[in-house]
Amino acid sequence: MSITALVTAAEQRYALRRPRSRELFERASTVMPGGSTRSVLDVRPFPFRVASASGARLIDVDGHEYTDLLGDYSAGLLGHDPGPVEAAVTDALTRGWSYGGVHTDEIRFAEALVERFPSIEQVRFTNSGTEANLMAIQLARHHTGRNRIIVCDGAYHGGLLYFGHGGEALLAPFDFERIDYNDADAAVSIDTTVAAVLVEPMMGAAGCIPAADEFLRALRDRCDAVGAVLIFDEVMTSRMSTGGQQARCGVVPDLTTLGKYLAGGMTFGAFGGRHDIMAAFDSARGGTLTHGGTFNNNVVTMAAGAAALRELLSASVLDALFARGEHLRERIDAICATSPLSVSITGLGSMMAIHTVDGPVTAPQDLVGSDADLKQLLFHELLERGFYMAPRGFIALSAAITDNDCDRFVDAFAASVGIIANA
Ligand SMILES: Cc1ncc(COP(=O)(O)O)c(C=O)c1O
Repeated sequence: MSITALVTAAEQRYALRRPRSRELFERASTVMPGGSTRSVLDVRPFPFRVASASGARLIDVDGHEYTDLLGDYSAGLLGHDPGPVEAAVTDALTRGWSYGGVHTDEIRFAEALVERFPSIEQVRFTNSGTEANLMAIQLARHHTGRNRIIVCDGAYHGGLLYFGHGGEALLAPFDFERIDYNDADAAVSIDTTVAAVLVEPMMGAAGCIPAADEFLRALRDRCDAVGAVLIFDEVMTSRMSTGGQQARCGVVPDLTTLGKYLAGGMTFGAFGGRHDIMAAFDSARGGTLTHGGTFNNNVVTMAAGAAALRELLSASVLDALFARGEHLRERIDAICATSPLSVSITGLGSMMAIHTVDGPVTAPQDLVGSDADLKQLLFHELLERGFYMAPRGFIALSAAITDNDCDRFVDAFAASVGIIANA
């Protein structure tokens, strides 16, 4: 049977088993385009609708249970019901939550972030990683008096900052210029007209492609030479250690942006960095930049973030998660290496992506020619065996995932590629 025919059969099987999700998809589609409000959640032929979640498990409205390997695209690092976060949120709700005034939880959260990340001397909060990156870019332009912003081809830095080639993305109107990821020689194009270089220490959405240390070092050196601001987008990669991927690779940026899991799963973003750069927001020090955002210091988020950092996201938890991810990726890699299918895996620590091309994959260009049908089929085969990952193959382990979950996933992956190869 062809892969295309197998996909059709898998989608039919999926739909038949999820009548309630289909019904709700039709209802949702009348009031929300595509039946959802976040494009990345689109699943063909329609998404299963989640009824509840706990630990590392999701249960859908049709009664299916899934082991959650997606972890809300990395925002769910703590699993679905981390006790200290729940306690902090419950406590915050007894004190009111929309003050329109400053409070103590934001200081506790900010102190915990500053303590951790080598580059962050001061921090500001936003509502999302997208907003954090927009603010960091604007801050770099202000600091340098320049306009050009260097990004990597294929990068995703948020809903308004997508530098891939598919779809018709909205792009914030900055003066962007693309270089190739992991091309240290491209750093030469960074000159004294450049305000900032915005880069992820591992490209996440583009396919979990780690940066070579030389690449990041070349960017650091060149930014120093021309007076440009180096911004690390650690919205995803901050989970690699208590000090983020910058602490692991030893390259310290001028500004860092954060998001996802750091507020325990609540709506969150932050940007921070060198004291002298962040001073632009401090009117007492002559700063003239303003920074709006009704929910920037939302009490629930601030309390949840402080609890997550102080009580849960310890070095031992993050190191164990990193090691579990490395081990899982090695085992999937071994299966890919012996499969007759064009499958490969990349990643770092607890985040990885399964690709439907032969490796090695060191830049998004290496993914041109991916087999979209095979990817869709793998997604459905794994879902059928009770594992939820992103349709694009992305996995972000949560701390609730156990060794046993990983063992079962390795078996499910081997069975899925085996069945497809022999069909
Ligand atoms: C590296 C990176 N930066 C920024 C963002 C945007 O964050 P948010 O979805 O919170 O706006 C994302 C989201 O996936 C991301 O992966």
